[in-house]
Amino acid sequence: MLLLIVVFSVSGQKRFKIPSVYSNITYDVEGNLMLNIGNMSYILNDMPSEMTLENLIGNPQATTTGILFDFKNALNNGTLYYGLIPYEDSKYPLPVYFRAPVQIMDGKAFVNMQALKGRYDMINWVKKGKGMLGYRVVSETGEFLYDGRIGFKGNKPIFIDTTIVEGPFVNLLTHESVVLSLKTNLSVNVEIEIGGNKYSSNSASTYHEIPINGLQESQEYKYTVHFGTNQESYSFKTAPKPGSRTKFTFGYASDSRSGQGGGERDFHGANAYIMKKIMALGAYENCSFMQFTGDLITGYKIDPNQIQLEYANWKRAVEPWARYFPVITTMGNHEATMYYWALPGGDFYSIDKFPFDKVSSEVMYSQNFVNPLNGPESEDGSQYDPNKKQVDFPSYKETVYYYIYDNVAMVVLNSNYWYAPSTSHVNETSGNIHAYIMDNQLKWIEETLEVLENDDNIDHVFVTVHTPFFPNGGHVNDDMWYGGNNKFRPYVNGKPVKNGIIERRDELLDVIVNKTEKVVVLLTGDEHNYCKTHITPETNIYPDTWDLPKLQLKRSIYQVNNGAAGAPYYSQEITPWTPYTTGFTTQNALVLFNINGEDIEMKVINPDTLDEVDQLKLR
Ligand SMILES: [Fe+2]
Repeated sequence: MLLLIVVFSVSGQKRFKIPSVYSNITYDVEGNLMLNIGNMSYILNDMPSEMTLENLIGNPQATTTGILFDFKNALNNGTLYYGLIPYEDSKYPLPVYFRAPVQIMDGKAFVNMQALKGRYDMINWVKKGKGMLGYRVVSETGEFLYDGRIGFKGNKPIFIDTTIVEGPFVNLLTHESVVLSLKTNLSVNVEIEIGGNKYSSNSASTYHEIPINGLQESQEYKYTVHFGTNQESYSFKTAPKPGSRTKFTFGYASDSRSGQGGGERDFHGANAYIMKKIMALGAYENCSFMQFTGDLITGYKIDPNQIQLEYANWKRAVEPWARYFPVITTMGNHEATMYYWALPGGDFYSIDKFPFDKVSSEVMYSQNFVNPLNGPESEDGSQYDPNKKQVDFPSYKETVYYYIYDNVAMVVLNSNYWYAPSTSHVNETSGNIHAYIMDNQLKWIEETLEVLENDDNIDHVFVTVHTPFFPNGGHVNDDMWYGGNNKFRPYVNGKPVKNGIIERRDELLDVIVNKTEKVVVLLTGDEHNYCKTHITPETNIYPDTWDLPKLQLKRSIYQVNNGAAGAPYYSQEITPWTPYTTGFTTQNALVLFNINGEDIEMKVINPDTLDEVDQLKLR
């Protein structure tokens, strides 16, 4: 735990201890966080926002005849679409919007439930005395801001009911266990019923993570969530026992932040349109799970409350399907909460926000997802740790980890740890650069791959990381290449670390390619395209000017890049490995891996058109 030292300044503003890993950052006498470069001092741009999840949920209140929403200062005017959600006639209940939306005026909107009676009452709520309302908040300029839902009971008067406002989601699925997570509008106990057994949340809360143990392998389980006087039922299928070598499929994609084109393509932080298509295709292809590696959302937020809204929008997009199978994610560069100093002329300085255990990019991410805890702790204890006796770095918790499904292991990395968005200024502020895997994470990767290499149940290891080892379009000037410039590297407490970005890439490749036989493919993203690059011992992976030792690869490996989940596109650029790159496309794509014992076939489908984009027999 980070030791939190809070000092109150004369003006009463909170001062948190500045982590010793940063440089040139101080407080002034009034408690402002200052950046001091040369003889200049810059004051922090601290911009609290009203565009928060809490405000956009709209504080729904019942009246005699309907439900009143109050979006506070998040928006003045706009449109509220609404409709009933039928839970009984579909596996994936979604709102069916009523023919006439209502206007949001002065931040408020009223839904007259009396209009949803008679021939519009397809859920029979009048007779049952309860139902679910879905609602969509759209700004005055037509931007989709939030999709919410609220349960109601009664008829006239109407009352607000206990509601699952997010989830349930299937997490940490194994052959014998699962963790279900969900959020409720009211602080309540929830109970989950599976196969005649009941599992309860330990205490009343609005957030629930409920572990379910003692399950049978490869079995479909119906689960019912009881909350208040309500219930919802879904199902999941447990994994096969590790090493069963059954036939199964999983999906891979990344980069679903808001795209262009308006509508659901720009759902306040997420390309909900393509994400829904990807999830529907994944379900249609019987995916046992989906791996999604970074840039879920637009992010880069100063106010952590804003990033909560974007995460909620992304989770809403995948929710109908993620109630049935796991969607396993990690962070990319966009999952950033940051301190930000704007300079005259448009330049800026930006670092990972602290206190790290309260508002960092890492902690905001980990609050929103349920991932394994088998990763490294942090970069504390590394050779560049400025103080071995205290915690100075953010946690890796839930952003670096591995999981096993049958004979496959997925090793999930975080190449945007302690990431300073102003990468070109890390020599002044300190911080990690985009795409650099720091020492402790590298050590953990080596140890983890060795464990998996010696595990007889595992035939295939996939390594996934947001940033390509070999960028091809959009990030050739950064990722693990920086245009062939090795000088880029993190700075800690004002000092550069020993190895540059390309040296670190080579150390990673040495561990992943040369020291294992099981790692079959590198799954990357960040660049908003699909392509595959065959990295062979003959592939040129160095700039012409390279004068440091070269890594000799002992075998070939594929890098499969799929950042084509909806973020704005990049075209292909020329690199030393361009001759080894095939299949490049800016079409949206879902990569599917069909595993059958020792065999792996990859096929790539456009989730929008269902056109086949590419295919490859990997093993
Ligand atoms: Fe990215």
